[in-house]
Amino acid sequence: MKSRATERDQKHAVANLSNLYRIFTVPESPDSTLGQIDQEISQNLSGFLRDRIVATEQDLAVIEQDFSSPEIPEQPTFVSDYTDFLMDTLVAQSVHTASPGFVGHMASALPSFMLPLSRIMTALNQNLVKIETSKAFTPMERQVLGMLHALVFGNDNAYYQTWMHNRDSALGAFCSGGTLANITALWVARNNLFPARDGFRGIAREGLHRALRHYDCNDVAVLISERGHYSFGKAADLLGIGRDAIRAIPTDGRNRIDLGALQQTLRRLKRENSRIISLVGIAGTTETGNVDPLNSLADIAEEQGCHFHVDAAWGGPTLFSANHRHLLQGIERADSVTIDAHKQLYVPMGAGMVLFRNPASPSSIEHHAEYILRKGSKDLGSHTLEGSRPGTAMLVHSALNIIGRKGYELLIDQGIERAREFAGMIGTHPEFELVTEPELNLLTYRYVPARIQQALQRADTTRCSTINGHLDKLTKRIQKSQRAAGRSFVSRTRLSPQQFGDDTITVFRVVLANPLTTPKILGDMLEEQLQIAAGDERAQEILADLERQITD
Ligand SMILES: Cc1ncc(COP(=O)(O)O)c(C=O)c1O
Repeated sequence: MKSRATERDQKHAVANLSNLYRIFTVPESPDSTLGQIDQEISQNLSGFLRDRIVATEQDLAVIEQDFSSPEIPEQPTFVSDYTDFLMDTLVAQSVHTASPGFVGHMASALPSFMLPLSRIMTALNQNLVKIETSKAFTPMERQVLGMLHALVFGNDNAYYQTWMHNRDSALGAFCSGGTLANITALWVARNNLFPARDGFRGIAREGLHRALRHYDCNDVAVLISERGHYSFGKAADLLGIGRDAIRAIPTDGRNRIDLGALQQTLRRLKRENSRIISLVGIAGTTETGNVDPLNSLADIAEEQGCHFHVDAAWGGPTLFSANHRHLLQGIERADSVTIDAHKQLYVPMGAGMVLFRNPASPSSIEHHAEYILRKGSKDLGSHTLEGSRPGTAMLVHSALNIIGRKGYELLIDQGIERAREFAGMIGTHPEFELVTEPELNLLTYRYVPARIQQALQRADTTRCSTINGHLDKLTKRIQKSQRAAGRSFVSRTRLSPQQFGDDTITVFRVVLANPLTTPKILGDMLEEQLQIAAGDERAQEILADLERQITD
């Protein structure tokens, strides 16, 4: 099939220096060609975003046709032509993550001020690795880290006046997301566990092998519940400790780390002569939104004398809510905390942070270079994993100021309230089964016709497993059909909830963070799922199999 891109009437601009000078020069007036293109893009984009319809399912193989050539065009293209290409092929086939019916993932809808304000960031193109290329952006980023540090750790103003702009320390590190934040936290924890001592020059210089020998231990471990985000596996891999060093602790009936099982693992590690790099608590698990008992974990970390990290990538902003912040009690005792700004701070993708209770602790990952990041400079790059970085902290600063604590409180409260309402709808509906109750604003459920629910209650474990196997297929089919229809979107995952014995089941997963998602939209979503179950051929086949199972 011929791609639309190659079918287009390709006009070429002329490659000469004066044309190149023009594209690097700021347009003199909004009436210039670029100014007009700019206006058109804004109009088209806001039209696209206003539609609030989840993108219709287009086969990826068809979309790939538009992006199939490896050739870099020999001749320049007019910006206006290229913009048409983007609108036709890219924008039209993007996912409307801002749609109120898009409740399947943690991709947040953006407040409308983000688009115009983000132009400042792109226009200035600052590089936050060093002050020489960022100037005021550096103190602004330090302030953002200070603001979030104060939200989590709650020190007084005098503390922040001492530490926020201190050249020898860092309240945190700004990065592109939760993954980088978790990696940075474990990097700091690893290096602080094996510092320079008695002739050993520290793990940062001599590596893990020599560190284990010097500190006379056999191995290392990171302790986190089985609901931990997969970024910890990446961190373990990168830090040279191996993914097996992540000890996945079983969870209780509410997807929170099982403290008894944790104690057992601690005893085993002692017998094995393994050292703990970090105990990790989760404040808002990715799949179910549950929060570990952070105070108890802080007690255990204290007893063990080990680093305590909290992954609050999702749930951190719950601290804005007077009603719900108690769920995160103990987070202020963590040594490091991850918060993703591109989740519940409603900032565009590419904004995460790790915060350190002790601003001296990241000195163990400090790096210097002669041409930048000189010792004693306030350059932010000396404590970040990334080198060149954009000034995205500006957008976090904008959101924190424009939305404010009260605004965030309303958003958080509404998301949790909405999740409870939706759980109520599911719980009272005869054809649906709530699998995990919302603690924050996430929940999981599945479609189970009333007759099958009754059969499951009577069935023995073997029959339950068979029925659950069929229900898994049904859940998958409904989720895919709903996504293809494009009116709304829930995601799906697999869980092993305690009430299902040894079975791992497939569930719909819902994340309620878009303030424009109403109970009516959620009710319609359930209705649509019922219609798919009743009308879709494949779903009907699976249901017929189920009927046979329960009548056999
Ligand atoms: C709990 C948790 N931690 C870490 C991450 C990773 O964040 P990112 O995708 O921004 O790297 C996620 C992402 O969903 C998450 O839910």
